[in-house]
Amino acid sequence: MTLTVRLRRAEPADAAFLHAVRAEPSAARFQPLRSYSERRLGQLIELRAGAPLDRHLDAKVQWVILADDRAAGWITLDVTSREHGIGAVGYTVSEAFRGRGIATSALRILIDIAFAPRQLDLERLEAVAAVENIASRRVLQHAGFVPEGPARGLLRIGGRRVDHVRYGLLRVDRDVTNESPGHLPIPRKEPSRA
Ligand SMILES: CC(C)(COP(=O)(O)OP(=O)(O)OC[C@H]1O[C@@H](n2cnc3c(N)ncnc32)[C@H](O)[C@@H]1OP(=O)(O)O)[C@@H](O)C(=O)NCCC(=O)NCCS
Repeated sequence: MTLTVRLRRAEPADAAFLHAVRAEPSAARFQPLRSYSERRLGQLIELRAGAPLDRHLDAKVQWVILADDRAAGWITLDVTSREHGIGAVGYTVSEAFRGRGIATSALRILIDIAFAPRQLDLERLEAVAAVENIASRRVLQHAGFVPEGPARGLLRIGGRRVDHVRYGLLRVDRDVTNESPGHLPIPRKEPSRA
């Protein structure tokens, strides 16, 4: 059965949901999540909630991913350089919702918002994924991101420096197919249902 995936700007009332997802054991396996209290998360969301989604946005924005109108995860876009039209994306889907294409759909929606000249009007999106984070690398690949090389020991996660792959997507790439030769082969494994 097909799920309908939508994005909604995160609101302070989402803090409890976001806090619960961040506490899931697998959420922090491949990303360095700070241990914010629910109250602190609410404050951060409030700071980000009002920024208009237009070509002047120069900040980090967060959305709740809705699957059939149920909160399933979050996705963020950080405008890291307005001058150069660059944003960085990040996402997490709650364990109960994984493996159903939700992150891939959410990322595709975000790409449209990011590149649309009447919305964020960015020209380049970036992401990093731990080499071992096959699920995230597949999501990026399905959404058209191109691997741009290894970044050894890029982030400290769980007390050790973790090798990553850098990914990029240009607005002018949008018509390139997901099977373009630029993609690294990603090993296929049984999805973890943890
Ligand atoms: C990465 C994450 C967001 C993916 O969410 P999702 O909604 O399950 O993603 P999708 O269903 O859109 O796609 C997942 C893809 O990875 C594959 N996959 C999932 N787990 C896998 C595993 N352990 N090994 C191999 N492939 C795996 C799925 O089969 C699917 O690929 P396919 O469509 O080619 O079959 C989710 O696993 C997550 O929140 N992980 C923890 C946080 C995280 O790592 N965030 C990203 C940081 S860079």
